[in-house]
Amino acid sequence: MSERFNQAAQEWDKGDMRQNIAHAVFQMIASRISLLNHMNIMDFGAGTGLLSFKLAPLVKSVVGVDLSEKMLEQLASKNSSTLEVTPLYHDILNEPLNQQFHGIVSSMAMHHVEDTAELFKAFHTHLKRDGFIAIADLEAEDGTFHTHGNEGVYHFGFEREALRTTIENGGFEHVRFHNAYTVEKENGTYPIFLVTATKKG
Ligand SMILES: C[S@@+](CC[C@H](N)C(=O)[O-])C[C@H]1O[C@@H](n2cnc3c(N)ncnc32)[C@H](O)[C@@H]1O
Repeated sequence: MSERFNQAAQEWDKGDMRQNIAHAVFQMIASRISLLNHMNIMDFGAGTGLLSFKLAPLVKSVVGVDLSEKMLEQLASKNSSTLEVTPLYHDILNEPLNQQFHGIVSSMAMHHVEDTAELFKAFHTHLKRDGFIAIADLEAEDGTFHTHGNEGVYHFGFEREALRTTIENGGFEHVRFHNAYTVEKENGTYPIFLVTATKKG
C-alpha cells in the first residue's frame, strides 16, 4: 500500500479535490475544537501535510505520522523557518511512540487501516488525559470512490453507528459526528464526516 502512495506523492497536491477536503476538514475541526498554542498534535496518515500545515500556525507542534516515505518527503519540502510540521515515518499500531499528544487528527487515512478497533486503541495510548480525536473519512460507500482501484482500501467508508461503538470501546466518550464535506464525482457523491471524541478518564 505504501508503494501506491509513494507513486502518487509527487502529484498528490495537484487538482482541487484533496485541497478542498483538507480545507473543509480543517474548518470543521477548528469550529468544534479549541486549538490552543500549547498543544502538541499528531496528524495520523498526514501524507503531504495538507491538513497538518493548516493546523500548525494555531498550535505548538504538529507531527505528521505516515508510512509512505515519498508522501513525507513532500510534507518535509513545505517546511520553512516560520512554519514547520515534523514528518515521522512510524507504525504507531505496532510500536507506540514514546510521546503523548493533546489531540490526534486525521483525514482520509482510516479506510486504509485494516483493524479500526486497534487504530482507536493506538490513538488512546498516544493521547494525554482528556485528549481529543478529530477523524475525517468517508461515509459508507459502494466501493467506487477510489477510481484507481481499491488496493490498500480496507473499508468502503464507515457506518456511523458501528464506528461510534468501535470508538467508545477504544476508551473514548462524547463521540460526535459532523458533516464535513461532500466530494462530487462523475460516478457519484461521497459525503465525508468528521468524528470527534475525547479520551475517557
Ligand atoms: C488518502 S491518503 C491521505 C493523506 C492526507 N491525510 C490527505 O488528506 O491528503 C492516506 C495516507 O495514510 C497513510 N497511511 C495508511 N496507513 C497508515 C498507517 N497504518 N500509519 C500511518 N499512515 C498510514 C498513507 O501512506 C497515506 O499517506
